[in-house]
Amino acid sequence: MIQKNLYIKTYGCQMNVYDSGRMADILKPLGYTLVESSEGADLVILNTCHIREKAEEKVYSDLGRIRPHKDDKMILAVAGCVGQAEGAEIMRRAPYVDIVLGPQTYHRLPEMIARAERSRDKKEGPGRGVLDVEFPVESKFDHLPEDHTEVGPSVYIAIQEGCDKFCTFCVVPYTRGAEYSRPVQAIFEEAKRLIDRGAKEITLLGQNVNAYHGESPQGQEWGLGRLMEHLSSLKGLLRLRYMTSHPRDMDEELMVSHRDIPQVMPFLHLPVQSGSDRILETMNRKHTRKHYLDIIEKLRNHRPDMALSSDFIVGFPGETDQDFEDTLNLVREVGYAQAYSFKYSPRIGTPGALMENQVPEEVKTERLARLQELLNTQHQAINEACVGQTLSVLLDRRGKQEGQLLGKTPWLQSVHLDAPSRLFGACVDVKIEKASANSLTGTVVTVEDVLKRSA
Ligand code: SAH
Ligand code: SF4
Ligand code: F3S
Repeated sequence: MIQKNLYIKTYGCQMNVYDSGRMADILKPLGYTLVESSEGADLVILNTCHIREKAEEKVYSDLGRIRPHKDDKMILAVAGCVGQAEGAEIMRRAPYVDIVLGPQTYHRLPEMIARAERSRDKKEGPGRGVLDVEFPVESKFDHLPEDHTEVGPSVYIAIQEGCDKFCTFCVVPYTRGAEYSRPVQAIFEEAKRLIDRGAKEITLLGQNVNAYHGESPQGQEWGLGRLMEHLSSLKGLLRLRYMTSHPRDMDEELMVSHRDIPQVMPFLHLPVQSGSDRILETMNRKHTRKHYLDIIEKLRNHRPDMALSSDFIVGFPGETDQDFEDTLNLVREVGYAQAYSFKYSPRIGTPGALMENQVPEEVKTERLARLQELLNTQHQAINEACVGQTLSVLLDRRGKQEGQLLGKTPWLQSVHLDAPSRLFGACVDVKIEKASANSLTGTVVTVEDVLKRSA
């Protein structure tokens, strides 16, 4: 088989990271090996994100950068959410793009590549592009290879996809399509294969992961809490996480799983977007500020050390100073270990873009800075409180230099360490010595996992 080079660039959310990995898995049997640069690659895939205007612009500027070194043999594909949202428009703006596909059709990549190669070899020229942005009746999950090419200590499994919620700012329901939950057994088997190959931590992914309602082995419908209980029986699985959740779908079974299932970590990313009921209403979030705060209270009753994270949008149409103050107050009330905050970006095709009372850019900029300052103070304080403590850290990444490893605490804090590379993949106790708003540093004190293995 002819060896070929594949370069994939991933933009956007964890779901795209998972999808990029699966595309590499699909292409491996065709002889494609991953490389680090688009230059000289036989196939380049940009796995794109459409969530905000900036994300979309980045794709076009990267296309412009690739164009000069696109030679006769290179096949250039735009996959992901921009592919889905813009379709043929991409080939109009960038006629040198060979393939455009959406997130639901990447199991058909081999056929698309074969078609693109045929028209390349016939020198059909611009307009010869292959477009596949359907929402097919078959689920791509049933057509993906069993094996994952690369398996690290911390892995993702997509268990749910799509969204039926239609928040008025968001493109996801249009780019990913309707909600779908994979059957329990398929997820269990994927998890088992990953653990057999060294995975210690699994993060279950979905655009609305806690809306999961998959078919159980006995044909019933299981929620996310029940699914995690089932997965926790897998020997060798040390940690379970899930993201992203919606406040409307936080049921009791899921909340108590943080208390009752040892592998379920004391961390939850639960986006609230705004602290103002008025704005939550116009965003069509279908929950109130009180509902959100009640969930946090319940979670902390079950699990007092629960760390919280959220997404925020500032400057949604109609957001007044008072609405924004409500958001700041909610942040003060909850206390976030991590957070992502964005200026509202109007997206064509969403109701928010048509609302009349758009907030001026300078106001958004000023509000974002104030919100981020408050959030940073909280992250810093939470991290500083860890100094002097000994925390369990899963060493899941290699540092830039030899002798450095990176890991995560149960509360998803990043930890930087000097440690020998044989500890990669181990869960070790680390005495925390220094903290910043984004990370911790410390020293390994015991090596439980490694000791157990050699015992
Ligand atoms: N399903 C998740 C979020 C998916 S999108 C949820 O329901 O919370 C990830 C984040 O991007 C969102 O939480 C939101 O904060 C942000 N986002 C989405 N659309 C946006 C827009 N038009 N402008 C700015 N931020 C946006
Ligand atoms: Fe977007 Fe809302 Fe669906 Fe999340 S719940 S993906 S923010 S529409
Ligand atoms: Fe972006 Fe699509 Fe994810 S729009 S955030 S890549 S679901």
